[in-house]
Amino acid sequence: MYNDNPTIQDLNAKTIDEKRQGEAFGAEFAPKKPGAKHFYIESYGCQMNFSDSEIVASILGEAGYSPIRDMEAADLILVNTCSIREKAEETVRKRLRVFNKIKEGKPGTMIGVLGCMAERLKAKFLEEEKLVDIVVGPDAYRDLPGLVAGAEDGEKGVNVFLSREETYADISPVRLQSNGVTAFISIMRGCDNMCSFCVVPYTRGRERSRSAFSIVAEATNLFDKGFREVTLLGQNVDSYKWENPETGEVTNFAQLLTMTAAVDPDLRIRFSTSHPKDITDDVLYAMRDHENVCKYIHLPVQSGNTRILDLMNRTYTREWYIDKVKRIYEIMPDCAISSDIITGFCTETEEEHQDTMSMVEFARYSMSYMFFYSERPGTPAARKLEDDVPEATKKRRLTEVIELQTSISRELNAAEVGKSFKVLIEGDSKKSDKDWKGRTTQNRMVVFPKREGEKPGDYVMVKILDSTSATLFGEPFGSL
Ligand code: SAH
Ligand code: SF4
Ligand code: F3S
Repeated sequence: MYNDNPTIQDLNAKTIDEKRQGEAFGAEFAPKKPGAKHFYIESYGCQMNFSDSEIVASILGEAGYSPIRDMEAADLILVNTCSIREKAEETVRKRLRVFNKIKEGKPGTMIGVLGCMAERLKAKFLEEEKLVDIVVGPDAYRDLPGLVAGAEDGEKGVNVFLSREETYADISPVRLQSNGVTAFISIMRGCDNMCSFCVVPYTRGRERSRSAFSIVAEATNLFDKGFREVTLLGQNVDSYKWENPETGEVTNFAQLLTMTAAVDPDLRIRFSTSHPKDITDDVLYAMRDHENVCKYIHLPVQSGNTRILDLMNRTYTREWYIDKVKRIYEIMPDCAISSDIITGFCTETEEEHQDTMSMVEFARYSMSYMFFYSERPGTPAARKLEDDVPEATKKRRLTEVIELQTSISRELNAAEVGKSFKVLIEGDSKKSDKDWKGRTTQNRMVVFPKREGEKPGDYVMVKILDSTSATLFGEPFGSL
């Protein structure tokens, strides 16, 4: 979901969605329309940011702006930024230099910074990056047309107001670069947890849940348009809680899962991310009881050591997390679990790092996003703890975790050979247009030969014949 760590890129292609970082939207759109105004947008960071870019596209569309893929032809260049690690911010600074070059050659071009870095740096951005015209935080996108109009009149604008209510529930996102099969639905915003390493509570504000009805309506609409999989998105989806203002009735995450699962048995439901402390048995039962709720949980552990978890303020111990993993496998023996891991957090010893290693072994994660600790200004860890693990040690520990995770992923995938899975076709495989790629309910990528009459969005039974640490290869059979 998020990655900016070159060490990982070299070692394990599976843990990355690096190719999506900086993705520009607008590919399917016609070239520049004469007389119309065009915006170009690039997105960084997590899926929430990519999802927000689709909301931004919708708001700008209403204001008469069309998306365009060629940044040099754009009237407005936007970058939706991430602050999660230092590296993510450096990447954005580099991109701003490229945008500034364009502006030097074409002075009327406006440049806007959106997202988490905008929120973190606020007006300081305008001092540090003189050619930026507007700075807009994640809760202020409705103000974009106004800010752009002001900037056109030469007035630089900043809106980084964080809201307690904004969920953009009524805005229908423009699915700019979609495969037509899978889509993301944002169900909540913000985060009320205070993990000591994390900048998100400061950049995204307080947790708030979107109307359950608007979520189900969006899922239904996507299904009607041919989509066959939706991922319910939030920093902490399991604490979803929406109170119907008319009846006072409260919908929790388990109930929301059941409601979206009922849209159609052919619509797959995924969700991300789950904080281990909030995932209840009711959520696990809702997963078990609905075939179309995918048997896959992203359950970030961060560290396998109780002392470090306490310093991270994750609110669970090693033993508690182990019990949660056992519970998941007990209720759904075929469920896959993945994780996020940070190596070299403040004061982490070699022994404590070994606890993370043994946790990866125990939980048998299908995959993990792995990072070395990057101190973020203003977070509790930056204020109270010393970032005292040398960078070389952090990176060496990261390499060890990545190598272990890769070997476990390879073993788990090898164990699937000979089994058959229902796979949702997403599109052509990366390497050949004679093969499809799709996923199993456990979120494992499968590549297999195309047969006549099949198309993206179809479900196919595939028998697995071969595997690597990242992909299963198989042969389709029968029909569904
Ligand atoms: N809400 C999600 C995480 C969002 S951030 C959750 O609680 O699981 C995604 C991941 O980035 C985190 O899980 C963590 O592993 C990593 N991360 C966050 N802050 C970091 C930091 N300061 N240094 C390194 N990795 C970090
Ligand atoms: Fe950050 Fe923790 Fe919130 Fe996740 S749950 S976004 S890691 S503060
Ligand atoms: Fe980055 Fe903000 Fe997401 S900091 S990871 S874009 S919530």
